[in-house]
Amino acid sequence: MSGLSLIGLKKVFEKGTPNAKLALDQVNLEVASGDFITVLGSNGAGKSTLFNAILGKFRLDRGKIILDGEDITRLKDYKRAYNIGCLYQNPLRGTAPNMTIEENLALAYTRKARKSFFAVNKKDSEYFRSLLRELDLGLEDRMKTQMGLLSGGQRQAASLLMATIAEPKLLLLDEHTAALDPATAEKVLDLTKKIIAKRQLTCLMITHNMQSALALGNRTIVMDSGRIVLDVSGAEREQLTVPQLLQRFRENAGKELSADRMLLG
Ligand SMILES: Nc1ncnc2c1ncn2[C@@H]1O[C@H](COP(=O)(O)OP(=O)(O)O)[C@@H](O)[C@H]1O
Ligand SMILES: [Mg+2]
Repeated sequence: MSGLSLIGLKKVFEKGTPNAKLALDQVNLEVASGDFITVLGSNGAGKSTLFNAILGKFRLDRGKIILDGEDITRLKDYKRAYNIGCLYQNPLRGTAPNMTIEENLALAYTRKARKSFFAVNKKDSEYFRSLLRELDLGLEDRMKTQMGLLSGGQRQAASLLMATIAEPKLLLLDEHTAALDPATAEKVLDLTKKIIAKRQLTCLMITHNMQSALALGNRTIVMDSGRIVLDVSGAEREQLTVPQLLQRFRENAGKELSADRMLLG
């Protein structure tokens, strides 16, 4: 069973210059195995930086990251990628658009085995087909279609499979439905929920939709100026409405949760 501990994370970008930016300011977070945490915060709050720290995209100024009992603070990013799946707003990121859906899934699948790319055998092919069938988008009949030819929603759904097929210890979703139309976003969120439950994944999901932040998962954190200023779960969260969430943020952060790009529902 895997959990994640973030201990005193600090990151200053462009340190020692007039543009110095404190992007992570003493971030502490204990994520239990199987937690599905939604992450809110206005633009520039440090949400993506938090993900990048976990992914090892830069060196922290201070702090420690423990994933499933292993201190990964100094582990290279490509090594962390074996255990951490991620998905971004841009459906092109993280997939090979000129390769077929089947080849993309095979690539993601072999990551688990840590072997180089293999020819897709019949058994794997059947497995991929069954996973695609579960998406209910008709993609099981388009396994030989290039990833780049899919619509944004289809590609995010297929990318979600890629990010989870190797059963990562942690799944990071950075506004993965933000570029989709509302109906498609809804569908992809629904698939997200199903896949996370089925594989019992530990997940952090950044969203700017406060309604879905409270509706999905078991815990919600809100960031501001590189800090976690609100952390709600359990019965407290069950009853929390969006206006109450905004009120709690106001009390803790001493300002309004910036409404630009923030959807109320
Ligand atoms: N690589 C970087 N170099 C310099 N500044 C950065 C870098 N990445 C993020 N920042 C800054 O850190 C702050 C937090 O950014 P980010 O984590 O992307 O915010 P969010 O995802 O919450 O919108 C912002 O002020 C941003 O400009
Ligand atoms: Mg971001």
